[in-house]
Amino acid sequence: MTDDILTLDSVSYRYPDGTQALDNCSIRIRRGARIAVLGTNGAGKTTMFLHLNGILRPSTGQASLNGVRLDYSRSGLKSLRSQVGLVFQNPDSQLFSASVREDVSFGPMNMGLTESEVRRRVEEALLAVGMTENAERPVHNLSYGQKKRVCIAGVLAMQPEVVVLDEPMAGLDATMQEELTAILDLLHKSGMTIIIATHDLDFAYGWADEAIVLQSGRLLASGNATEILTQENVCKVLGAKPLVAEINRQLSLIGIDLRDIDYMPRTKRELLQAISAQTRQEN
Ligand SMILES: Nc1ncnc2c1ncn2[C@@H]1O[C@H](COP(=O)(O)OP(=O)(O)OP(=O)(O)O)[C@@H](O)[C@H]1O
Ligand SMILES: [Mg+2]
Repeated sequence: MTDDILTLDSVSYRYPDGTQALDNCSIRIRRGARIAVLGTNGAGKTTMFLHLNGILRPSTGQASLNGVRLDYSRSGLKSLRSQVGLVFQNPDSQLFSASVREDVSFGPMNMGLTESEVRRRVEEALLAVGMTENAERPVHNLSYGQKKRVCIAGVLAMQPEVVVLDEPMAGLDATMQEELTAILDLLHKSGMTIIIATHDLDFAYGWADEAIVLQSGRLLASGNATEILTQENVCKVLGAKPLVAEINRQLSLIGIDLRDIDYMPRTKRELLQAISAQTRQEN
């Protein structure tokens, strides 16, 4: 097995109306990594994601899974989509069945699993996203955030090797965002590769191992998330800096170096812990 589970090599994509949405992008997705994909509106994140599970096919260049070029035949795509699960940005693009349970069952049912295994996975996935109580409800009556949860459950129930989530936190309430982060942690610990498109720079800085930054369809930067997301040119393009990194920097300017403690905080929680540890040391 190669280290890279998914790769795009010099991928360009032009929509039928002539819009050049990806321009010569090469990326490598390391097996088991947490990857954040960032870029302003229209940068090409969704278009890139649609290439990862074969919904779109590069105009030029190629996409590979486990070092093998994607197979766009019917059976090739079926197998690809059981290995790479995509949660769409817009839940209405993904949901189609009458009830929540039917919708979540659709993917695993098509994988040729036994009925009891499908049932087990569906119940587990519904529980993970807090939708067990709503299992019999028609999907079209759900709120936006509830629809997003159902979409996430549908992909989790397939237990793919890679989950690709297009702005999964957008529209979720604060509690569900925390719960989703906890689900992502569990999936990561189980060895899954997780790729997320997000506009939340603070989340990306705290969560991701690696970052990919797109600008007008081109790859602006990729690599270690803490390094990439504090690069001046990247922050300029994204129009923001990660708050925790900025506080670390400001504190070190006034002589408080949190690295003295033993690690560099990446999340608000770590930052608060580091500051209180520092204060205890000084008292
Ligand atoms: N179906 C389509 N037909 C033509 N152009 C499209 C289509 N979908 C997207 N585009 C264009 O392709 C470019 C990339 O769009 P994409 O949706 O990939 O961006 P994005 O980074 O996901 O943006 P956002 O942050 O708003 O979700 C944009 O210029 C967009 O207008
Ligand atoms: Mg998008």
